[in-house]
Formats: sequence, structure tokens, C-alpha cells
Amino acid sequence: MTEANMNSALTNLLTAEISGPNVVESRRTVGDLTGYWQDADAALRTATELLYITQSWFPVAEGTEGAILWGNTTLMPGLVGDEYYMTRGHWHEKLDRGELCVTTSGTGLLVLMDQHRITRFEKMTPGSTHYVPGHTAHRTVNTGDEPLVFLCAWPADCGHEYGSILRDGFSRRVCRGFSL
Ligand SMILES: [Fe+2]
Repeated sequence: MTEANMNSALTNLLTAEISGPNVVESRRTVGDLTGYWQDADAALRTATELLYITQSWFPVAEGTEGAILWGNTTLMPGLVGDEYYMTRGHWHEKLDRGELCVTTSGTGLLVLMDQHRITRFEKMTPGSTHYVPGHTAHRTVNTGDEPLVFLCAWPADCGHEYGSILRDGFSRRVCRGFSL
């Protein structure tokens, strides 16, 4: 493998699929988000259901200062009780680090919560392009009936902090009947 090949991958802009060296895929089920759902019993009943798949491309190692990483998420449609399928959500360990996301297909919401626990929402539709500022927790929610697929670019050294979301959640949940 030449160095040039190591530093490139192929992104299908219709499907968001990323292929090439150093692309890592992971899958999460409803049960992997135990503790995050409003309806714990409903989550237990559907624990094995596929929730989302991510692909992350690492042309450099995570943690590399000054570098940017690239990846996608395919968030399935569905409900746990009355709550729409969602990603775990996180803060960046380096709080001032931001992120970019662009939706390729599906519809949903980008949930953004500041350090005062004020939560706001941005609609995700094909082509919608979102800047997640620093000092902002973020998660995505699929409010549609097809997979919500998006690409993201984030600083390689941002770090991901999930524990406080598990403990405190976001200040707002997105459930059936939700309107902005
Ligand atoms: Fe992030």
C-alpha cells in the first residue's frame, strides 16, 4: 500500500458508504443504549434490534492533534416505546472542538444542548449541512420511516464523553407527536 493510498478513501455521495483502508465499522443495538431510553421495559423487549451502524475512516490515529476524521452513521427508523430511535449522543472531551455533518438521506433531528442544558433542534433532510459548535452535546434522532444517513467530519483529537449523557441525559427527548 502506498502512502497516497493510505490517505484516500472512496465516499459514495448517494449512500454515504465509505470504502478503503482504515475504515472501521461498528453496530449498535437498542440494548447497547440501555439506560438512555425513557421506557426501559420497551428497550428490554427490543434490545436486539439494530439501531445504527457507523463507519469511521482513520487516515491518522484518533487523538492526532490538528487532524480531521471522517465517517458516516446510518440510524434506523423505529421507536422504543414512544421515543424515536436515536444515537447515544456525546460531549467532546475537548469542549471547544466542533464538528460538521451533512445529511445524505432520510429525515430527522440534530439535537444540540449547551452547557446550560438548553436544548435546540435542527431538521435533518437530504443535503442539510450542520455545524455543531464547541461546548455543545449532540445526538441525532430518526423521526422518519426510512434510515437517516449522514456524514460527519470531526477533529481527531476531540475525544468523546458519554458518561454524563448516560447520567443526566439531554434536557429534551424526541417522542412520538414531537413538534419543533
Ligand atoms: Fe461529536
